[in-house]
Amino acid sequence: MMEVLRKPTVVYFTASGHTQAAAKATAKALGADLERIEVVRPLPHSMFLLMIVGGFAALRKRVWAAKPASRRFSGNDLVILGTPVWAGRLNPVVRGWLQANPIPANVPYAAFATMGKTGAPDVLAEMAAIVGHAPITTMAISDADRRSGEDARLIERFVADIRRMKTDT
Ligand SMILES: Cc1cc2nc3c(=O)[nH]c(=O)nc-3n(C[C@H](O)[C@H](O)[C@H](O)COP(=O)(O)O)c2cc1C
Repeated sequence: MMEVLRKPTVVYFTASGHTQAAAKATAKALGADLERIEVVRPLPHSMFLLMIVGGFAALRKRVWAAKPASRRFSGNDLVILGTPVWAGRLNPVVRGWLQANPIPANVPYAAFATMGKTGAPDVLAEMAAIVGHAPITTMAISDADRRSGEDARLIERFVADIRRMKTDT
């Protein structure tokens, strides 16, 4: 059987840096490319406004346009998607990015969400429904995990799961 070494890319959106920190640590451990999802229209500058406008948009499953991805995923790619939880839902920018950049059925992906306290399982399920196939593994990081340092252990486990998939036989 032929061995296929998959090329991992971590794609993430962040508003306040938490998802970015997990994305960077994951990419470093995997030797993966790192791609930040950028908004087309700037986000509200104050966190207060972002909570209201962003929370409402996420609840209504609105799509906020994302700048085009650097390339289309195919063949031997392995995508790792990272999103913050907004109002218990998928972030509107990640929703926009996923609509514009469908992950082909033959491209495996892993997914993670960062959150204040709750909501990651629902968001990861929502993401899987949009992508159309199940992730190889998932991870959820809360504020408490970041404060206690538990996030490092969660990322280690996530990376180990992904490594197992990086080489398909
Ligand atoms: C608009 C908005 C809505 C949020 N809604 C939730 C929520 O429903 N549940 C939760 O646990 N955290 C919620 N949070 C907190 C973020 O999920 C959390 O801080 C996350 O780690 C932020 O990631 P980032 O720093 O990469 O943007 C919300 C934050 C924002 C800005």
